[in-house]
Amino acid sequence: MAVVDADIERLMAEHIAKRPTWYAHDLVPWEEGRSYVDEPWDESQCTVSPEVREAMVLNLLTEDNLPYYHYAIASEFGEDSAIGRWTRRWTAEEGQHAIVIRDYLMISRNCDPVALEDARMQTVSRGWDSPWTDPIDIFVYTSAQELATRVSHRNTGVVADDETAYEIMKRVAADENYHFIFYKGIVSAMLEHDPSACVLSMRKVYENFAMPGTVVPNFRKRAAKTARAGVYDLRIHAEKVLTPVMRDWALADLEGLSPEADAAREDLLAMPGALVARAEKLERRMAKAG
Ligand SMILES: [Fe+2]
Ligand SMILES: [Fe+2]
Repeated sequence: MAVVDADIERLMAEHIAKRPTWYAHDLVPWEEGRSYVDEPWDESQCTVSPEVREAMVLNLLTEDNLPYYHYAIASEFGEDSAIGRWTRRWTAEEGQHAIVIRDYLMISRNCDPVALEDARMQTVSRGWDSPWTDPIDIFVYTSAQELATRVSHRNTGVVADDETAYEIMKRVAADENYHFIFYKGIVSAMLEHDPSACVLSMRKVYENFAMPGTVVPNFRKRAAKTARAGVYDLRIHAEKVLTPVMRDWALADLEGLSPEADAAREDLLAMPGALVARAEKLERRMAKAG
């Protein structure tokens, strides 16, 4: 199924009209910056908790791998297309996220600058291979991925207990929400053309969903710390990402599905509940382990 260029142009025009222009320098307290040469970094200088620092670093390293996200979309659709034009604009916006989070972490001394740069080198050198190449799969994935990123950034700001971090992460999360609206809109248009193909794609993609940050060194350890901070975990994924995505597409009420797609829909609708049950089991085990 071809991506509908008219829908992409419309969604992009709506996005550009809605998204406010913002500047990292308006949010970052530059006056707090000190020389790392004269005053080397020490953990005692940090002002936010180790869990929040880990969440911010994981979010930042995931943003740093932007060249591969651009490539994953641009290589499938080409630069000279409506999606190519969108992808360039989206890339410019995504680039701002790494800029503002890195500026904040460096100026507030809330990360080890050497460890951060070493991890960035490792992450970007490793790259990221999108498992999705079919147009429907790509946009079904990016819809949930942008919403997940929004939730993760927003929660990081909320648990930071730091006014500046809160404002920065709120701003970045708002951008991710605009991206979510864009990709979700493409899937809505695709649903009108071929609902069965979209539903089959959703089951495949969401059963195998993984954030692009899994290539970050020590991802499991970092993700566990981030989960402990209440930023992102299985329950949040089920309740704040999968459930709203499927609700927005009115999955339960879709008509005209093939028998195979109808079965896929049932599987999809059962997915959040099954994930929450798994999360509860995990939570009980963690509580028992203290
Ligand atoms: Fe981003
Ligand atoms: Fe985004």
